[in-house]
Amino acid sequence: MVPGIHEGTRIVLRGVTRLLGQLREDVQTVRDRDPAALSRLEVVLTTPGLHAIWTHRLAHRLHLQGVPVLPRVISHVTRFVTGIEIHPGARIGRRFFIDHGMGVVIGETAEIGDHVTLYQGVTLGIYHTANVSAMRGAKRHPTLRDGVTVTVGAKILGAITIGEGAIVGAGSVVTRDVPPHTTVVGVPGRVVVERDPETGVARRVDQAQRHNVDLPDPVLEVVRCLHEKVLVLEARVAELEGSSGAPPSASTVRDATGTPSMLT
Ligand SMILES: CC(C)(COP(=O)(O)OP(=O)(O)OC[C@H]1O[C@@H](n2cnc3c(N)ncnc32)[C@H](O)[C@@H]1OP(=O)(O)O)[C@@H](O)C(=O)NCCC(=O)NCCS
Repeated sequence: MVPGIHEGTRIVLRGVTRLLGQLREDVQTVRDRDPAALSRLEVVLTTPGLHAIWTHRLAHRLHLQGVPVLPRVISHVTRFVTGIEIHPGARIGRRFFIDHGMGVVIGETAEIGDHVTLYQGVTLGIYHTANVSAMRGAKRHPTLRDGVTVTVGAKILGAITIGEGAIVGAGSVVTRDVPPHTTVVGVPGRVVVERDPETGVARRVDQAQRHNVDLPDPVLEVVRCLHEKVLVLEARVAELEGSSGAPPSASTVRDATGTPSMLT
């Protein structure tokens, strides 16, 4: 065999093997994380998240090579078919999984680590839509570290970082960095749970705040004491005025012009 052809065949075979390995890993990722996924054939034919990531890999490669228009066209057609919009510039790691998918938007400068899961309706978007020209080309979308889960309908906005293993609760709006191995919920997102990365044991971290309503308010206590003192003094003044015969006003005397002035 001609040495050049032999080498070329080997390169092609290596590429095909790598591609098949990646496709197999993608299918296995769906089966690992979607309890409804049954056979491999069903997963391949009916998982929009899988179709979106496959076409994104192609679009991203073309985008990196500077091919004009085509990457956006691929992204656009994919959105039409799957309901998932991934900008070709977004960088996505391995074992990525989008469950259901409809309404997912991933912006141009988003970065996603390995083993990340997104559910339907998730947006990885920009924080502010004013001054668009100044933002062009700048990092403006979130970074999701390895093992992050963003659940249904959550919005993560701006060039913030969601730490490794963090969970973003359904419907949350997150605009600040999220520490690793925590759960964030609400609008705006706040940390409610921390997990030990070694043992996985979870601990509530918002309990003190939750029970604050039951604690005595020290300022209110001081005001209450002062009020009681004033009542005692008023009673005493009234008593003294009563015993002296002609009582002056409790709190005022008149000056030479007849204008009332406060007693000191
Ligand atoms: C965030 C979530 C994953 C739970 O994470 P967790 O670390 O186990 O957190 P916990 O269940 O211990 O919840 C901690 C607190 O946050 C609250 N909380 C949880 N999720 C919340 C949310 N999305 N919004 C507001 N509060 C939420 C809980 O009620 C609890 O507070 P409470 O004790 O005062 O009631 C889960 O609540 C969630 O949002 N799941 C959505 C999953 C999904 O996308 N499903 C659709 C699939 S199709």
